[in-house]
Amino acid sequence: MADLDDIQDGKNYHLDTPHQSRAFGLRGSNALDWGMQNRLARIFNPRDNRTVMLAVDHGYFQGPTTGLERIDITVVPLVAYADALMITRGALRTSIPPEMTRPVVLRSTGGQSILKELSNELVAVDIEDAVRLNASALAVQVYIGGMHEHESIGNLVKIVDAGNRHGIPTMGVTGVGKELVRDAKYLGLATRICAEMGAHFVKTYYCEKGFARVAAACPVPLVIAGGKKLAELDALKMAHAAIQEGAAGVDMGRNIFQSDAPEAMIQAVRAVVHEDEKPETAYELYLSLKSVPVGR
Ligand code: R5P
Repeated sequence: MADLDDIQDGKNYHLDTPHQSRAFGLRGSNALDWGMQNRLARIFNPRDNRTVMLAVDHGYFQGPTTGLERIDITVVPLVAYADALMITRGALRTSIPPEMTRPVVLRSTGGQSILKELSNELVAVDIEDAVRLNASALAVQVYIGGMHEHESIGNLVKIVDAGNRHGIPTMGVTGVGKELVRDAKYLGLATRICAEMGAHFVKTYYCEKGFARVAAACPVPLVIAGGKKLAELDALKMAHAAIQEGAAGVDMGRNIFQSDAPEAMIQAVRAVVHEDEKPETAYELYLSLKSVPVGR
């Protein structure tokens, strides 16, 4: 029976203090529902609204990529340094311990391989399975200008609608075919289309000329892919330039897991993204962390 004798009348209603209603600081996200904002706040650190996402989903179309042959061995030690992990459901279930508490950005399209036309994708995860996996966001490849542009935008629309029903945000990923130039005009077109079709944040590439305009015209946060492996200092310079020109972070793969010292590299990338560290200073950090013997 309920303990009716012990019900207490509240005493402190703070009548002189209006109810606290704070704006949600992440670009373009203030009108979203609580669950959506909460998931985005797990990916983008609310302190600076930036993120270091670790992308390890490459196997979904290119198989055992260098550095990802054994995700259970090479990726698991990196997860603690990432704000979020971008991964396929197969790699997540088989190779990442469920005790991992970092938010998952779930690769949600696929259906092709490097042997065929890359833009020929379909929705590759049911929204119920994404919920089951506790995904914090869904990732969709969009091939503007590609052979299957129309279908890939259709995939984005389907996934945004499914995610919206469950409060799960969607990241649009601008897939660029070999025949297309990654300049500001193209990236501006592709990123803006993703945002206009409902993506809650967008992943794209950095371009040396005009990236600030690409970022300015995208009404949701932009994160950059690292692209092919560069020398560590060059990758840090690229990340730094992107951040200073308006990116909200990185979703970096090969430039971290193919580095000579992946744990040192991801910490150096964090310094650039979250501490506005200059690339040269972050590179010094990389070198000093790299020199620490494993296990110390
Ligand atoms: C590519 O389609 C995948 O989504 C990768 O996650 C993406 O390219 C980011 O990885 P990287 O930094 O190696 O380019």
